[in-house]
Formats: sequence, structure tokens, C-alpha cells
Amino acid sequence: MTYSRIAAVDVGNDSIKAIFGQLDSELNIPNVIARDIEDRPVIGIEELDSKDPLDGLHVRLHSPALADNNAIYRIGNLATKSNNATELDPGSSKSEEDQTLIMLFATLALDAVSARNEKHFQRNKNVIDANYTLGTGLPLREVKEGKDAGYRSKLLGSVHQVEFLITPKYQGLKVNIKFDEVKVYPEGFAAFINLVLDNNANIINKELIDKRILIQDIGGLSTDIAVIKNRNVDDDKAQGFNLGVSEALEQIREEIRSKHGVELDSRRDVVEIITKKNDRNHIMVRGSRTSVHDITDRILLDLAKKQYRLLRNIWQKNSQTEICYFVGGGATVLKDYLKTLNNNLDGYNIDFFEDEKESIWMMANAYYKLISDFKKKTSKETDVKDQKAVKA
Ligand SMILES: Nc1ncnc2c1ncn2[C@@H]1O[C@H](COP(=O)(O)OP(=O)(O)OP(=O)(O)O)[C@@H](O)[C@H]1O
Ligand SMILES: [Mg+2]
Repeated sequence: MTYSRIAAVDVGNDSIKAIFGQLDSELNIPNVIARDIEDRPVIGIEELDSKDPLDGLHVRLHSPALADNNAIYRIGNLATKSNNATELDPGSSKSEEDQTLIMLFATLALDAVSARNEKHFQRNKNVIDANYTLGTGLPLREVKEGKDAGYRSKLLGSVHQVEFLITPKYQGLKVNIKFDEVKVYPEGFAAFINLVLDNNANIINKELIDKRILIQDIGGLSTDIAVIKNRNVDDDKAQGFNLGVSEALEQIREEIRSKHGVELDSRRDVVEIITKKNDRNHIMVRGSRTSVHDITDRILLDLAKKQYRLLRNIWQKNSQTEICYFVGGGATVLKDYLKTLNNNLDGYNIDFFEDEKESIWMMANAYYKLISDFKKKTSKETDVKDQKAVKA
């Protein structure tokens, strides 16, 4: 039987989080792509300022699943530096955007060619055949609209090829990705699974499993609130909003630039300033330590108020809710503000994850638990069938 590698992939609007194999590797790649015009080598390897493949992802993609087949893209960090970079638009559907597939295929290909994993797969000269068992997710809204089925069959239906172009270490390699199985989970439900199950699908949180809970996932561009009752997501009650933290981070960056004349490279730099343990909310301006607390406080408090309104609204409609968990990168950034607002206002029973990694990797961890459990069960079934066949 051919090896089929487990991949649990959360294609977030802000970044992709992926966990592979026996938890042996993971990848986190900014969800940014830039299309290259063909027949024009825009970059040369000597122009890449790093030898890390993650900083120089440059690929051509062949797949019937893509609306735009055979196109060339810069992906992740390399795309960030390009002037035609595209990030996902808040109103778009993840399941229908080429960008979602481009990021997914590039992430899997990167896993397949890495020195540690490549031995698992068949390789013929510079072509690697990589089989994956994929667990991934879509926003509740899209699952409600039934878009998961089409997304799944697009993935299962064909071979998807990623060709590494001017990428350090991997230039010239091609990866043929085939899916043995694809599971598409609704995002909010996945977060619930992560709270109540461990990696072997054992219940780890008996108190929580039968409670009515809300999970407010504050991402880069969107916020999803899942309503959980009777161990299931209540599809009708769940809601998605086009409100994330990216805009606030961008605004902070802009105000720091206009007020202090300091140019920060990215939103990630802003996150660092507002979450660092030492000297939080301070930057260096011409060599002097300077507070930017006034700027960050005002903008983040404003966003926290909007998030709190969303919570209040959903809680009103689900009055028997016992607890709300805040997850996602946005929960990390807004934690203190939301706690303060809640103490001064309605005093809901809310909770956060102390470990920011746990908060940000929530979905990917959940998909991993679900897909590895699925694989374990199905391979047991085939074992049983095989044994029966032997006995017969
Ligand atoms: N420790 C951290 N490391 C990186 N980013 C962080 C961190 N804490 C907060 N963030 C920020 O939180 C925001 C949301 O990140 P998250 O990974 O939850 O979004 P996403 O899942 O990619 O987006 P969405 O849920 O909208 O699809 C990002 O803008 C990110 O910059
Ligand atoms: Mg997310």
C-alpha cells in the first residue's frame, strides 16, 4: 500500500497553519500571493536575500481545480515584497478562490520536498509523487451553503502539480499531489473538538462537552462565532462577520508612521510591539525609547468594543450560553481590552487561552485530531477486511 501522509491545514485569511505526519512537522506561511507575468523572469535567485525556501517560494501550478491553470506565483514572504500582492478579500468565499488552493498546494509541496519527508514518497528524478490524507476546514457560512462538497471533489478529482521555479534548495523539483481522502470540517465545530478531545480522540474535558458554549474566533480579516449545543454546532445560530484585526494593525502602523516618522515593515511588527513581554507598546525613535501606548490603546479598544458588541448580540439570542471562549490571533491581541470591557459592562463568563500558540493553532490542531482519528479508524477497517480475506 502506498504511504499517505496526514496533513491538517488551516487556510487562514492571515496565514496558513499546517501540521503533518505523526506531528513531525508544521508550517506557517503568510496568506499572500503575487502573480508573475509569464515569459519574463522577474526575479533571479541572486536577488533573493535569503537561502530559506520559505522566503523564496516561487512556483508554477498545474491543476484542473484552478480557474487560472499553469500560472506562476510568488507566495508568502516573497509575495509580500511584491507590488501586486493579493490578500484575500473579506467578502470572498474561501472555497471558490484560487488563492485558497494555491496556498494549500504550495504548503503541501513544501512539506513533500523537505529533506526529512521526501523519503516517504516515490521519487522519479525530479518528480515526487506525494499522497496526502487531508483534513481542512471552511467557514461555517460556506459549509451552511453546501460549498464543502464542491471544494472536496475539486481536490479529490485530480492530480495537482507544484513546480518549484526560483526557490532556494528546491528549484527544478516538481511535486504531484494526490489526495487519498479529504475531509472538510466547519471551522467553529473544529474549535470545539479541539477543546474536548485529545490527539487520540479521548474526551479530555468532561465538564465542557455537554455545555452550551460560544466560540468567538477573531482572525485577520474575519470573526466567526460558533454556537455549540448538544455536542454539535448549531448551524442556524452561527455567524460570520467581516471584521478582523488586520485593519486595526494597519491603522496603528500608519499612525506610528505619521506621528513618529517610523516605518514598520509589516503588521507582524505591530503585533510584536503590542504583545511583547518587555517594553510593550514602546518603539525606538531616532534612538530614544518612545511610548506608542496612546495610539495602540485607542485603536485596539475601539476594535475590542466592536467585538464585544458582536458577543453581546449573539449571547442575547442564546441566553442559556454558559461560557464563551475567545480564540484566534485576534483574541491574543485584544485579550486585555475585552477582559476590561467585560468587567465594566455585562460580566459574561468568558475565557481565553493563555498560550498564544494554542489560540492561533486551534483550527489546525483540531483538524489534526479529526483527520488522524479518521485515518486510524479506516485503516483498522481495512486491516479487519484483510484478515477476513486471509481467513476466507
Ligand atoms: N503571536 C502571534 N503571532 C502572529 N500573529 C499574531 C500573533 N498574535 C496575534 N497575531 C495577529 O492576529 C491576527 C489573526 O491571526 P489568525 O492566525 O488568527 O488569523 P487567520 O486565521 O489567518 O485569519 P481568519 O481567521 O480571518 O481566516 C493576525 O493579523 C496576526 O497578525
Ligand atoms: Mg482563523
